[in-house]
Amino acid sequence: MKTQQFGSSVHDIQQAARILADGGLVAMPTETVYGLAADALNDQAVAKIYDAKGRPSFNPLISHMASAEMAFNYVEWSEAAEKLSIALWPGPMTLILPAKQGCSISKLARAGLDSVAIRVPAHPVAQALLSKLGRPVAAPSANPSGRISPTTKDHVIAGLDGRIDAVIDGGPCEMGIESTIISLLDDPVILRPGNITTNEVQSILGHDITMLNDTGTITAPGQLTSHYAPNASLRLNANTFMQDEKSLGFGEIRGDLNLSLTANLREATANLFSMLHELDAREGSKIAVAPIPNHGLGVAINDRLTRAAAPKN
Ligand code: TXA
Ligand code: MG
Repeated sequence: MKTQQFGSSVHDIQQAARILADGGLVAMPTETVYGLAADALNDQAVAKIYDAKGRPSFNPLISHMASAEMAFNYVEWSEAAEKLSIALWPGPMTLILPAKQGCSISKLARAGLDSVAIRVPAHPVAQALLSKLGRPVAAPSANPSGRISPTTKDHVIAGLDGRIDAVIDGGPCEMGIESTIISLLDDPVILRPGNITTNEVQSILGHDITMLNDTGTITAPGQLTSHYAPNASLRLNANTFMQDEKSLGFGEIRGDLNLSLTANLREATANLFSMLHELDAREGSKIAVAPIPNHGLGVAINDRLTRAAAPKN
C-alpha cells in the first residue's frame, strides 16, 4: 500500500479521521512519541496494528481518548483516577483501570485483559483527530516492534512506509519519551516510568507509591526486557569512548552527539530517541552512552536505555 502523508490542516485531519473510521491505520503525533492509531472498537482495525508492527499479540495497547469524559464509557472510575486525571490530563500519563461490564473496546487491543489502558493526549493534532473521529483509538508507538520509538514523521516513514495508510506530520514530539503508566487496579503502582515522575504522582495522590521493577512482568505484559533496540550494540555508563564506538554524551562527557550539554534531563529526554535513531543510521556497529543520573526524568531515560541494551530476543 502507499502511505499517504498529511499535514495538520482541518482538511487533512478530516481525511485521516475518515481512514480511521473505515478501519485503516494512521500514525499520529502526540506530545510523547508518534502513535500508530486504529479505531479501538474495531477488532479488524486493531489487528492491522499488530501486523504492521510485528508486535507480539499478548502485548496490550493504550486506548487514547479525547477527554476523561469519553473514558467514563469504558472504565470504572475511582478517586485516584479522578485526582490524577484532573492534574495530568491531557498529558503524558496512562492509567490502567478496570474495564466496565460490556466494555466495547476491542478485546484484541486489551490482549484479553479485564483492564484498559487509557490516555488523553495533549498534542493538538491528536486532540483534533480524536474529536473528529468521536471514538477512542488504540495506539502503540509507531515503530516496528522492539525498535526505537519515533519522534518525527520521518522516523515513522523509515520504519513503517508501505505498511500503514497514512502519517500526519505534527513536527517533532515535544517530550520524546513515552507516557508514565500507572495501574489503579489495586494500590497505585507505576508500571512504566515516563515524563511524569514518581514524585509528581505521589504529591498528587498524597501518599507513597511503589514502582514495578524489571522482573515484575505480571501486570505489565508489554514490559519486555529487550525493547527500543537500535541495530547497533549499546554500551551504557561509558565515561570514555572507544575509537570504533559512535558516542552519545551527556553534560561534560561530550560524545559525537550530546543529549544535553547543560546536563538538563528534560532536554535529554526529548533528544533520546531521535539521537539514538541518528547514531544508529551512521556507519558502525557500536554505540556507547554516557552515564545518566538516576533521579527524576533520568529514571525513565535509564529504563529505556537498559531495555535498548538488553540482549535481543
Ligand atoms: O506515550 C505513550 O504512551 C505512547 C503514545 C503513542 O501514546 N504509546 C505507547 O504505547 O508507548 P506502547 O504500546 O508502546 O506501550 C503501551 C504499554 C505496553 O507496555 C503495554 O503492555 C502496557 O502499556 N499496557 C497496555 N494495556 C495494559 C493493561 N491493561 N495492563 C497493563 N499494561 C498495559
Ligand atoms: Mg512502544
